[in-house]
Amino acid sequence: MSADDWWKCGIVYQVYPRSFQDSNGDGIGDLDGIRARLDHLVSLGVDAVWISPIYPSPMADFGYDIADYCDIDPRFGTLDSFDALVREVHARGLRLILDFVPNHTSDRHPWFVGSRSARGDPRRDWYIWRDPAPGGGPPNNWLGNFGGPAWTFDPATGQYYAHSFLKEQPDLNWRNPEVRAAMHEVLRFWLRRGVDGFRVDVLSQIVKDAQFRDNPPNPDFVEGQDPFLRLTMLYNTDLPEVQPIVAEMRRVVDEFSDARSSRVLIGELYLPLERLVAYYGLDAEGLQLPFNFQLISTEWQAAPIDRFARDYEAALPPGAQPNWVLGNHDKSRIASRVGPRMARLAAMLLLTLRGTPTLYYGDEIGMTDVAIPADEVQDPFEKNKPGMGLGRDPERTPMQWSTAEHAGFTTGTPWLRLAADWRTQNVEAQSRDPGSMLALYKRLIALRRAQPALNRGSYEALEAGGEVLAYARNDEGQRLVVLLNFGPTPAQVPPALVPGQPVVLASTDPARTESIEGPLVLAPCEGVVIGSADDKAPKAR
Ligand code: GLC
Ligand code: CA
Repeated sequence: MSADDWWKCGIVYQVYPRSFQDSNGDGIGDLDGIRARLDHLVSLGVDAVWISPIYPSPMADFGYDIADYCDIDPRFGTLDSFDALVREVHARGLRLILDFVPNHTSDRHPWFVGSRSARGDPRRDWYIWRDPAPGGGPPNNWLGNFGGPAWTFDPATGQYYAHSFLKEQPDLNWRNPEVRAAMHEVLRFWLRRGVDGFRVDVLSQIVKDAQFRDNPPNPDFVEGQDPFLRLTMLYNTDLPEVQPIVAEMRRVVDEFSDARSSRVLIGELYLPLERLVAYYGLDAEGLQLPFNFQLISTEWQAAPIDRFARDYEAALPPGAQPNWVLGNHDKSRIASRVGPRMARLAAMLLLTLRGTPTLYYGDEIGMTDVAIPADEVQDPFEKNKPGMGLGRDPERTPMQWSTAEHAGFTTGTPWLRLAADWRTQNVEAQSRDPGSMLALYKRLIALRRAQPALNRGSYEALEAGGEVLAYARNDEGQRLVVLLNFGPTPAQVPPALVPGQPVVLASTDPARTESIEGPLVLAPCEGVVIGSADDKAPKAR
């Protein structure tokens, strides 16, 4: 075992803590709840759990507005419940990844309270303060992701402060070395408590243009789109100055890596491929896993996904570990985007491509987006830009565990309504059904764990034609072939792609048997993993 194996060969599972498991009946998920559900993660077969923010927060953006980086919000628990969680995660051989939110704090963070109190405050320069434009108004045209300008005027001190998101989320000034040092201490605080890594929020935006130039209009903007897209983010995203900051963060987490186990940095970066791969850093001194969100944005067809997978493989720097994501707490769920049947194919894709997969809680039981009536909306994105389909509540609904009241999520009133199908679509019911989504996820994960070709083998693009995506995964003479029919009609696989003595190791179609007689014809939306007779005996990784 090498120190990197856990995040290179393993699988990450994202928990949205408000919605995973409530332990005290207040309708909000919490740390003791997560701890009580760890056996689900073990039986699923994942390796690491990433928890979205759990720090003290006014919850203007549900925890992504942090008022204290080094404590736990009472709604989620205490530092003691956190330590208990770390212990139990590790006792099960799992790893714990926290969310690190460096771009902004809450406006209630004592740092910002000080900073806004007076121009002469020692923390004034910890945030981004600018004078009004010469004729009055905001210093430039930058926009906030959640609506309105990226600037709010503070009458007491006569200046504007920058916020890439809500006005309750002022942006930190990462050009200030004191900010960098303080934030490095935040990383160390959690690393000392035993965490195994961080998912870094909004990483590409943490440095802004030194001259604060106006962003140019976006030529591709279409009327009716999110007005935030009117401008390209030329001067407030992905500036060259971000790279050394990432390298510094990496050095801090590396202080806690040892020969047995490294600590990992995963970055939230919505960037085009050539820019994304730059975040691996020079000499791999950057992030280990710059999140690859292409399966969320690419058209759901064989050809574009095939194209991207090839380009990604070609663009990765030497030794860089790829990764893949189907969904997260900001995006419509995969089962809603592509439909329930295609979602099974998506599971196979995610778990057989080369690279670390990240699963979003609930996707393993095929949870779908839940329409939230206007008077129940929680997400500020929806509140600020209603009716545009931007709200993220639909993909954040409570986990469906069982047929118990409120799906076993809470004994109180859930903070967000449950999906209507929870009585039939839940972990308990699907555990008893070999044809369920959960059974498929478990089978695919077990196969991935057992087969080195899948968890660390190389990627070989194949040509199947039509709407079939085909690739092989190779490891020390072992070769597994993955064939995925994205089409609505049956598809015959070219015989040359099928290995000798073929055995179906997995199929998304519960009716498929192990042996293949005659030509291989995939059912609509069917995916298969094919090996040879001797691949049936699993090899431990
Ligand atoms: C990231 C988070 C998102 C949050 C935003 C602002 O994009 O994933 O949920 O609203 O950052 O912190
Ligand atoms: Ca609770």
